[in-house]
Amino acid sequence: MKRFVTFEGIDGSGKSTISKRVYKKLGEMGYDVVLTFEPTDTSLGRVVKKCIEENSDPIVTTFAFIADRMQHVKELKRWLERGKIVLCDRYADSTYAYQAVQLENIVENPIRWLKDLHDEFILKPDLTFLCVLDVDKALDRIKNRGKLFSFERKDFLKKVQRNYLYLASLEKERFVLLDTSRSIDETVKECLDKILKR
Ligand code: ADP
Ligand code: TYD
Repeated sequence: MKRFVTFEGIDGSGKSTISKRVYKKLGEMGYDVVLTFEPTDTSLGRVVKKCIEENSDPIVTTFAFIADRMQHVKELKRWLERGKIVLCDRYADSTYAYQAVQLENIVENPIRWLKDLHDEFILKPDLTFLCVLDVDKALDRIKNRGKLFSFERKDFLKKVQRNYLYLASLEKERFVLLDTSRSIDETVKECLDKILKR
């Protein structure tokens, strides 16, 4: 069984919907499960959101995401030590996929640079679901959300999606690509099967 499970993908790809449903189902099946997310709902998470809103310097934004994650990892470790299944809506792969686009032409090999920064403290997920949906469809699904993040632009998200697929190709064992153009029920079933498989 997989204990530390992350959900990744571009904005509007279905991460929150799917992770919430999976959380509910696992709870109903009697598992001790936690659902958490990044950016977190803490003072550091609020700094991160401010960085995005104010279009801060990409390096500053990167370190804000990392600070928020470093704090979050301590909590993740406590939950896992208590034997819980931990589901996390966005985690380090979000930074590798999104900030690598922001850092293009600023650092030489952004994904490598970002991974190196995480090396010392990161807790590796047992399983990562990558929600894959066409960028136009994803943007269409969130068009009524009100205020969109500055990252929620077609050209930007196309590059993010490309980075995610590249990250998945590097770690085929950890990543499962989820086609979220299917019904929610079908996708949730696939997630439960993969999490509960020995
Ligand atoms: P994210 O967390 O990746 O930004 P959400 O889970 O908020 O994405 O999903 C965006 C919207 O897409 C939501 O309003 C959700 O109800 C809708 N949606 C429609 N069909 C699906 C589907 N098959 N899978 C997941 N979400 C879907
Ligand atoms: P989130 O609240 O998960 O937005 P959504 O529900 O639309 O997916 O994340 C807020 C924004 O922050 C989103 O555009 C993705 C971005 N982000 C990064 O750029 N790097 C990161 O490390 C994380 C966790 C999120």
